[in-house]
Amino acid sequence: MAKHAITLHINGQAHDVAVDARELLIHTLRERLRLTGAHIGCETSHCGACTVDMDGVSLKACTLLSVQCDGAEITTVEGLAGADGLHAVQEGFMQEHGLQCGFCTPGMLMRAYRFLQENPDPTEEEIRYGMAGNLCRCTGYNNIVKAVQYAARKLQEQADPKQPA
Ligand code: FES
Ligand code: FES
Repeated sequence: MAKHAITLHINGQAHDVAVDARELLIHTLRERLRLTGAHIGCETSHCGACTVDMDGVSLKACTLLSVQCDGAEITTVEGLAGADGLHAVQEGFMQEHGLQCGFCTPGMLMRAYRFLQENPDPTEEEIRYGMAGNLCRCTGYNNIVKAVQYAARKLQEQADPKQPA
């Protein structure tokens, strides 16, 4: 089968890959590029375990063909931590016990990362609605809400260190 040459900019690095026309982005990420943080939990686009950030929006990588993503800027969970350590959403999930098996966590983190840019000071209801594309079998969601609230406070402190959040 003829391959298609594409370039994906992932976590700040360009990757040239040759993909089949039918290949899903989640498989290119996991199998060709070995970025195995993003997971697959369904075949019906419901679970959000495959969520990545692409060109400024949260997208389910199981619903995209890799050829559609040629030239895209993608962030995966492997790119969240910076030189200063964990990103605020990672710290929040750790501090508030927002994970158990960890299978949904990379998708949850990538959604929380974008959601808090869309809505930096969300109510609990807005968090639950904003994270509704991501399913979790372990936590019952309550500690995930607290984790996102923790991250929102921390991001506000980082944006304005003088103002206690
Ligand atoms: S694997 Fe379930 S929505 Fe992508
Ligand atoms: S922590 Fe297990 S599915 Fe969410």
